[in-house]
Amino acid sequence: MRKKITIIGAGNVGATAAHWAASRGIGDVVLLDVVEGVPQGKALDLSQSGPVDMFPGMVMGSNDYADSADSDVIIITAGLARKPGMSRDDLLAKNVSIVKSCAEQAAIHSPDAVLIVVTNPIDAMVYTGFKVSGFPKERVLGMAGVLDSARYRTFLAQALGVAPRDVNAMVMGIHGDNMIPLIRLANVSGVPVTDLLSADELAAIVKRTQTGGAEIVNHLKTGSAFYTPGLAAVEMAEAVLTDSKRVLPCAAYLEGEFGISGCFLGVPVVIGEKGIERILEFDLTDDEKAAMLESEAAVHVQMKATGL
Ligand code: NAI
Ligand code: 2OP
Repeated sequence: MRKKITIIGAGNVGATAAHWAASRGIGDVVLLDVVEGVPQGKALDLSQSGPVDMFPGMVMGSNDYADSADSDVIIITAGLARKPGMSRDDLLAKNVSIVKSCAEQAAIHSPDAVLIVVTNPIDAMVYTGFKVSGFPKERVLGMAGVLDSARYRTFLAQALGVAPRDVNAMVMGIHGDNMIPLIRLANVSGVPVTDLLSADELAAIVKRTQTGGAEIVNHLKTGSAFYTPGLAAVEMAEAVLTDSKRVLPCAAYLEGEFGISGCFLGVPVVIGEKGIERILEFDLTDDEKAAMLESEAAVHVQMKATGL
C-alpha cells in the first residue's frame, strides 16, 4: 500500500513540501489549509505535473481533516511567518493556537502517524504538538537542524570551492540566533574544515548560518524561506516512510541526553518508520555544553509562553 503524507498549511513551506514530496514519489500527499480553495488549487496544479515529472503519487487539496485520515506522516507548517524586524519568538502567541488546533485534529484522524512540526518558533511549537497530540516522544520531531545544517554546509562549500554534498557539518541546539553550528566536527569528505579555513573565516560562516533565516527574510520582505525548509521536512518524512535509519539533526524531546531534560532541542537522531529510534549522544566540549545550556534556557522561556 502506498504511504500517505498530510501537509497542514498550504502556504509557501507547505506547498513547497508537497512539491518535493510528490516529485520524490514518497507517497500520496494531502495538502490541507483553513483557506478554502487554496489547497485544492495548489494540489490540482501540482498533480498535473505528474505526467511530466513522472511521479506515481496522488496530490489532493482539502479543508477537511477527514481527508487526512490514516496518514503515515503529518507535517505541520500552518502559521504566521516572519517579516523583516520580527524574531521567530514574535510569532509564538498566534502560532501556538494554530498548532494546537492542527495537532489536535491530526492526532484524532491519524493516531499512529509520525508528526513533524515546522511552524516557528519551532522548538516551542514542536513541544505544543507533542503535548496536544499525546503522541509518544519518538513520534514527534521538529524540523530545523536539517535546514540550518544545509545552510552551514552551503556556506562552507562556497568558501572552500567544493561540492556541497561532500561537506558534512551539523547544527545543534535551538533554532534561533544562538543555534550551534559545530566547527570541530565539520569536514569535507573526512578532512577537518579547521585544517582548510582560518578561525576568522569559520567564525564568519558560523555567524552567517545563525542569521541565515533573517538574511532571506530581509531579501524577501514579505515572508521567510521556503524552498529548503520544504525540502528539509520532506527529507525527514522520507526517512520515516522508507525506514531508512538516516541520521539527521532534528528537534527531539530530551530526557537527560546531553545533560538536558524536559524540552525539545536539535540533536542528531536515527530515523526509522516509527520516528526517532535513537538519539546519537556524544561528548561535547565545555563551550558546546555551555551553548546547549543556553539553548535549553531559551527554549524553556518559549515553552512557558505556550501555557502548556
Ligand atoms: P505562509 O504564510 O506562506 O503559509 C502559512 C499557511 O498556514 C497559510 O496558507 C495559512 O492559510 C495556513 N494556516 C493558518 N492557520 C491555519 C490553520 N489553523 N490550519 C491550517 N492552515 C492554517 O507561511 P510559510 O512561509 O509557509 O511558513 C509557515 C511556518 O513555517 C511559519 O511559522 C514559519 O516561520 C515556519 N518556518 C519554519 C522553519 C523552520 O526551520 N522550522 C523554516 C521556514 C518556515
Ligand atoms: C528560517 O530559518 C524562517 O525559521 C525560518 O528560514
